[in-house]
Amino acid sequence: MATPNVSIAHWTDRVPNRQWPKEDTELDTIGAALPPVIAESRPLSEVHRLDLSLFAIFEEAALRVSGALTRHAPTNEAMYFAAQQTLDEGRHHEIFFNRLADSCKAIDIDRPAINDAIKTPPLKRFLEHCDEIVDRGSFVEALVLMNLVFEGMAYPLYAYEQRYWKPVDPYLSKLIRSAFVDETRHVNVGIYIANLHAPKSGSGRAGLIRLCHDASLLMNEVFEYYVKKFVKLFDSVSKLHKDLFADAEFVPGRLIAETPYKDQISTIHESIDKQHARILARAGLK
Ligand SMILES: [Fe+2]
Ligand SMILES: [Fe+2]
Repeated sequence: MATPNVSIAHWTDRVPNRQWPKEDTELDTIGAALPPVIAESRPLSEVHRLDLSLFAIFEEAALRVSGALTRHAPTNEAMYFAAQQTLDEGRHHEIFFNRLADSCKAIDIDRPAINDAIKTPPLKRFLEHCDEIVDRGSFVEALVLMNLVFEGMAYPLYAYEQRYWKPVDPYLSKLIRSAFVDETRHVNVGIYIANLHAPKSGSGRAGLIRLCHDASLLMNEVFEYYVKKFVKLFDSVSKLHKDLFADAEFVPGRLIAETPYKDQISTIHESIDKQHARILARAGLK
């Protein structure tokens, strides 16, 4: 991998100065008004709010861990990267939380609330584990858990979510796309920083590989539940609103309506596994 420039100056130029204004222009073209069909259809509204709750929970976890990583960063380069990731995650949390607020307001819920019921016990265990590692002060272990395992397994899902929401809430679809671009950067630069700071041999190396392996198993359990739950929910709302989802693609060139529920689940898991294996191989942690 080419050495990435992780200076704040480079990130400011590339992301806040160029990437965000371009995305804001695209979002303005679509318009932030919530499509009326979401409030008119109770099942659609519920899936919308539940999915946005999960986005907000994931982004909050990433925000809190990457913020804590700035305290333990062993070099300026690692500290600058953790700092810019913290701001990216803060922005992600805000955009998804604001969209959740729009969705709640449309059905007369004035004070938006994240539906905590969607936070499953395996997800709670994973996040508590991240907190413990950060509190202990191990920069590289916490970075591996957050950027390579948590984000590395979650970010392929953003591409599916972007396509699922495109015909219903194109504004949300664009927000997901925008976060996906950042997450891709967090994973790739995370691999580079982890490679620099991971112990190269001995018990430290073996311990990091074990930590990564165990965390990946736990995240598999997390995604086992969420993939099944959300594919099922999307499957039922797409059947309820056939016209709306008529052109919705599961993967480019393949319609949701023509893809059986079980195929959707297995394809999503395959893409998570493939991507995750590639990430761990690049980080030498397999
Ligand atoms: Fe994020
Ligand atoms: Fe991220």
